[in-house]
Amino acid sequence: MKICVIGTGYVGLVTGTCFAETGNDVTCVDTDKSKIDRLQKGEVPFYEPGLGELVTRNVGEGRLRFSTAVDSGISEAVISFICVGTPSSSDGSADLKAVEAVAEQVGKAAPKGAVLVLKSTVPVGTAEECTKILNSMKRADIHVVSNPEFLREGTAVQDCLIPDRIVIGTLDMAVSALLRELYSPFVRTGHPVFAMDHKSAELTKYAANALLALRISFMNEISMICEKEGADIANVREAIGADHRIGPQYLFPSVGFGGSCFPKDVRALTAHAREIDVEPRLLQATLDVNEAQKQAFVGRVLRHFGGEASAKGKRVAIWGLAFKAKTDDIRESPALTVIDGLLAAGMKLHVFDPVANANAKVVYGDRLTYASSTYGALEGAAALCVLTEWNQFRHPDFGKIKSTLASPVIFDGRNLYDPQALKKLGFTYYSIGRPPASN
Ligand code: UGA
Repeated sequence: MKICVIGTGYVGLVTGTCFAETGNDVTCVDTDKSKIDRLQKGEVPFYEPGLGELVTRNVGEGRLRFSTAVDSGISEAVISFICVGTPSSSDGSADLKAVEAVAEQVGKAAPKGAVLVLKSTVPVGTAEECTKILNSMKRADIHVVSNPEFLREGTAVQDCLIPDRIVIGTLDMAVSALLRELYSPFVRTGHPVFAMDHKSAELTKYAANALLALRISFMNEISMICEKEGADIANVREAIGADHRIGPQYLFPSVGFGGSCFPKDVRALTAHAREIDVEPRLLQATLDVNEAQKQAFVGRVLRHFGGEASAKGKRVAIWGLAFKAKTDDIRESPALTVIDGLLAAGMKLHVFDPVANANAKVVYGDRLTYASSTYGALEGAAALCVLTEWNQFRHPDFGKIKSTLASPVIFDGRNLYDPQALKKLGFTYYSIGRPPASN
């Protein structure tokens, strides 16, 4: 099948590459020339495990190409996938300018009877809006499908090739069959394909992200109660996760959820609900708890040092800047909120992330000191904050940490370590939803 993917971010590049991997002829287009230049040179513009090899192979075998010629890419394709960004507007709602502009381009350039697939995360009603745009351009022959994406950064290739489910939002049987055919190699092991109307498909995406975010905020709120009561969130998590009705996923308490999706999408659904006179109580609480969780981490660090005045000028090491492991993405990373809070209190921060230092440098410049090694960040620091659950932070050399830090104090935002073991080693150890451990 001839496919054009518009937008080469995580979703577009991964989706396009996976379609090429299953034998389709794919052109990925983007107006960002520097991105396309890099892709044409064989460089993936962001860190995503496994993607580079797949891109190289499919480009090499002639099934995948990159171009800034958006119109010509669209004009040759049976299906055009819109994978452009839908950033938050100032009121939290999704900004649809890019989506609508691409819909117009599809209206101008697509061949007769083409299919326009909305893969960008878009509010309920967007497929309808795009249909209106096309109708106003006398392009009622183009079918609009809402086909949300559920891949996670860090495991995007795997998630795309073996998705839990595919959602196809169109009531047109022929178009639905075409999409089923395209996705059939990915769902051979029996993963379901759900066909539904546009609006349900659009809402499915937001509801999935909001429910996952809500579970995290729920656990973070329970972790606050655990801390006050001296209970252990790990015990609670394991025991409730064993209930089949609840399940173990997305129950890990943390310094807060981040990334380019959960915060933005929960905000957008909140704003959308208000627009249509539905009070989004749970959605708003999900956001509020998340914000409070990030601030609570800052408060814990400052309290340890005796408050803002005495924390001023002290040096702290930070391990992890990315919003989660296996990505260099720092968008809405909880690490940024922690860094902002500690910088505002006048602390000096030495940071290390295996892949995200460069992205943090773009935001913070010389306001941070960037270490080139895990232990390098610790020298002379009065404490270590662990903010991303990178595997290499899970079993560190605690002897080395202790001898390199100026004082043996760890604030763990991901609950990577055993409080009793750290206490025995002579650390003062703070984590999420567990009583602090110290001698
Ligand atoms: C999320 C969804 O999981 C994907 O299904 C969806 O396709 C994607 O958004 C999107 O809309 O594009 P992603 O943002 O890559 O994927 O990251 P997740 O792995 O879901 O993690 C999100 C945040 O929640 C991270 O900050 C992570 O550290 C945090 N988290 C996750 C927790 O704090 N606790 C958990 O138990 C799980």
